Amino acid sequence: MRVLLLGPPGAGKGTQADRLTAAFGACQVSTGDILRKAVEDKTPLGQKAAAIMAKGELVPDALMIDLVAERLRREDCRRGFVLDGFPRTLEQAQALEGILKAMGSELDCVVSIRVPEAAIVERLEGRRSCRGCGVLYHRVFHPPARDGVCDRCQGTLYQREDDRVETIRARLRVYEERTAPLIQYYRDRGLLKEIDGVGDVDEIQSRIRRAWGEARA
Ligand code: AP5
Repeated sequence: MRVLLLGPPGAGKGTQADRLTAAFGACQVSTGDILRKAVEDKTPLGQKAAAIMAKGELVPDALMIDLVAERLRREDCRRGFVLDGFPRTLEQAQALEGILKAMGSELDCVVSIRVPEAAIVERLEGRRSCRGCGVLYHRVFHPPARDGVCDRCQGTLYQREDDRVETIRARLRVYEERTAPLIQYYRDRGLLKEIDGVGDVDEIQSRIRRAWGEARA
């Protein structure tokens, strides 16, 4: 499996990537998760990225490209991968093509997940993530059994700093300007599959698997 999930903030990329990789033994490459860990660990990358992420802007392409190139070359990605949050700019998309080509690999397909803006704001405002294992919850749509505690690892749940309404709006603007053009980029390359991202999480997972199956047929 070599799938790229494309979509606005809150489209459900992380939720769906987690399920896909668990089911197919592939590796989840989430640039947002990698960056948040770097911020938490106060690494040089984290120190550069923290303020940019808090404003909802994009971390510079050169940093992101090096980071993903290194991640994709690791052994665990040989079993396959699901990209979630990368690429986000045309420059990143072109670089990805080069990275995969150098590895003798290519994408099976790009699944673009469509969700209307009102639903996105509702999803992001209610999102809670586990500090321990990163599993995602939603206050209303997917609450944990015990308030504030992860069902999977008993870790503490927290709200992301960039999930405040004003930052969500900034992220949506950045998505429209910098990332949405990738939909046409991948359509032109015959890799694009578009799905409706509204509905039950399991139903959306089925739509993604169907799209991937069609791409490989
Ligand atoms: P990143 O972490 O990638 O954020 P994002 O793309 O904005 O995506 P999100 O994680 O917010 O949403 P998602 O689509 O994964 O949805 P989720 O499954 O969580 O990036 C964060 C920042 O890092 C960026 O702003 C940027 O600064 C930087 N960055 C990252 N990558 C970069 C790059 N390549 N270049 C430059 N900078 C980069 O779901 C959201 C909520 O909805 C959850 O609560 C979930 O439970 C709920 N939910 C999911 N599906 C459903 C459903 N079907 N129905 C109801 N609720 C649902």
